[in-house]
Amino acid sequence: MAFDIEMIKALYARMPERVATARQVLGRPMTLSEKILYAHLWDSSLSTPFTRGKDYVDFAPDRVAMQDATAQMALLQFMQAGRPKVAVPSTVHCDHLIQAKVGAKEDLTNAVTQSKEVFDFLSSVSNKYGIGFWKPGAGIIHQVVLENYAFPGGMMIGTDSHTPNAGGLGMVAIGVGGADACDVMAGLAWELKMPKLIGVKLTGKLSGWTSAKDVILWVAGQLTVKGGTGAIVEYFGEGAESLSATGKGTICNMGAEIGATTSIFAYDPKMAEYLKGTGRADVAELADGVAGYLRSDDEVYADPAAYYDQLIELDLSTLEPHINGPFTPDLAWPLSKFAQAVKENNWPAELEVGLIGSCTNSSYEDISRAASLAQQAVDKKLKAKAEYTITPGSELVRFTIERDGFIDIFDTMGAVVMANACGPCIGQWARHTSDPTKKNSIITSFNRNFKARNDGNPNTHAFVASPEIVTAFAIAGDLTFNPITDTLLNTDGVAVKFDEPQGLELPPRGFAVDDAGYQAPAADGSAVQVIVSPTSDRLQLLAPFTAWEGTDVTGLKLLIKAKGKCTTDHISMAGPWLKFRGHLDNISNNLLIGATNFFNEKANEVKSQLTGEVGTVPGTQRGYKAAGIGTIVVGDENYGEGSSREHAAMEPRHLGVRAILVKSFARIHETNLKKQGMLALTFADPADYDKILEDDTIDIVGLTEFAPGKQLTIVLNHADGTTETFPVNHTYNDAQIEWFKAGGALNIIRASVGA
Ligand code: F3S
Repeated sequence: MAFDIEMIKALYARMPERVATARQVLGRPMTLSEKILYAHLWDSSLSTPFTRGKDYVDFAPDRVAMQDATAQMALLQFMQAGRPKVAVPSTVHCDHLIQAKVGAKEDLTNAVTQSKEVFDFLSSVSNKYGIGFWKPGAGIIHQVVLENYAFPGGMMIGTDSHTPNAGGLGMVAIGVGGADACDVMAGLAWELKMPKLIGVKLTGKLSGWTSAKDVILWVAGQLTVKGGTGAIVEYFGEGAESLSATGKGTICNMGAEIGATTSIFAYDPKMAEYLKGTGRADVAELADGVAGYLRSDDEVYADPAAYYDQLIELDLSTLEPHINGPFTPDLAWPLSKFAQAVKENNWPAELEVGLIGSCTNSSYEDISRAASLAQQAVDKKLKAKAEYTITPGSELVRFTIERDGFIDIFDTMGAVVMANACGPCIGQWARHTSDPTKKNSIITSFNRNFKARNDGNPNTHAFVASPEIVTAFAIAGDLTFNPITDTLLNTDGVAVKFDEPQGLELPPRGFAVDDAGYQAPAADGSAVQVIVSPTSDRLQLLAPFTAWEGTDVTGLKLLIKAKGKCTTDHISMAGPWLKFRGHLDNISNNLLIGATNFFNEKANEVKSQLTGEVGTVPGTQRGYKAAGIGTIVVGDENYGEGSSREHAAMEPRHLGVRAILVKSFARIHETNLKKQGMLALTFADPADYDKILEDDTIDIVGLTEFAPGKQLTIVLNHADGTTETFPVNHTYNDAQIEWFKAGGALNIIRASVGA
């Protein structure tokens, strides 16, 4: 923690002044999120307030976390920056590439063999560049971050959508793409649209069967999967203070299911207890010293409607357990209405598998409450009717719950303990099923339940609930069972009823672990070799992209004129291609294969101007590249919407596309293109899109005077010898023009560090 504690001290030292300045500029009291955001401005010379939901702002996050799937390209790119070390504390977590099949030990061994080259790369690159490396089996990124790195008032980015889990410890923690992680590690600012704020006032106290999970299941029902978009959800009130830190983490984690930028709770005694329980009494002590900056101002709590863009209230004392699903996490059912919903909708009532754990719900509290029900099953002579699995979030939790006897209790239910990894949460689940075509039901304490997410089977109806409800349902084997009101017949034929689950927020004997699975980086990594096999088909070291030639770009061939929707999925498909996300050349074979060609209305069929033949988009582009001919891609509205996947910008760059000319861009993709040294241009008059013909050769004129706000000119050289000219717009600022000239943003950093 030495690296972190100095960073935390420095942040807390500057917080009072930063917040005072911001409060003066805003001219009003501040919410917790605003205090943290304004304390992390890249440029602290603040003179005017930022407008929430409108202004783009540069931030300086305190740390970066990456999971193994997204870390590959982020780190391959980072290597291009030429820095000897990462600019902020960073960690890599091997959790996504481990398939759950038979049980922890065997599954882990198989994964380590199958993905050896990826793990070897991540381990060596981490070692070299000062990055903490959590080995396969160490745990799931968000649980490990909560146990080790999250701290009140901090700001972090993570290459995974459930990064907001760290909001449970009062951190602004935001999920991003690998390109953003790379930038922050390389020492660049990180840009975010100033988020809106949604306040959730919690009154009352949870009791009985209700848990923190039910808070977010209820909120998801209220706000729906899009309701949190562009906003930070801030929880407060006496009810918030009554929740354990890990319970808060669960709520923040699933804020991703309502599209929230992140979710957060204010620093309170429950967080201090958790920090102390996880060996960070020093952080708690420092946080106590600035506690007033780790919560909203009193005026905000007194009149929240005046400070939040939206406010909702929930009385925890009246909250019922919820079950959400199937197929979407915002279809929220209170337990008392669920049986009826199952019958009316004809969902399979027989429950085949109950799964607890994951990054969302594998705290000591969750496990101990679920174990109390498993113990009751033993005591009351009940046999579990459904399969039951446990996916611990970390080795720290797994070791501790084993020591405290919970695993033994679960064993009596016939439970299978999976590896401390994502496994069944992300489709890495080789589920045993006799007939995959049959409609079937499962229930998990995870966060997402979209079709086919868990087991790849669209016939599986996945529901989401708390670990205690999942456990009770797994014992009953029946989704129409209500553990609060109904009885079950035991092996003696006697009707028995569950008592309320009981649990402990923290282990009374403290957490324990034998080997947490952490590899600290070398103090001096200069001699460490990054391991990438030259024959690997999953990993490939990157070479710097070439700089601009200093002249107008002429003679470009039209690769494709895309029609209609062209998301990052159309540009760089996911699914089986994810395997190649660390190998730019191989993954480039999916370039634009999902885009619809304007001229024939077909996907992945374009005409090559070199041969006249129709071929695939990547194949045709490789032909141009081999001939040393640049190309241009033309697109429609909102080109590149969807994920922040950097591959969608890197692939065309790698294969020799020089410019993307569209009616409009999704902003993140536009920025990603700029970072890679591409020209991202928009039609000044969208009707000019119609002028582009299949056999056009295209010039981009004006680049020698490329300047912010100054239009460039497109010259269309039609095959019949005629030409047409029209202006195009761009949004490059001075710094971004330098990126273009240098061939990419990382080339600038490399030049500045003298590599
Ligand atoms: Fe992993 Fe699922 Fe969480 S994929 S990071 S356990 S949401």
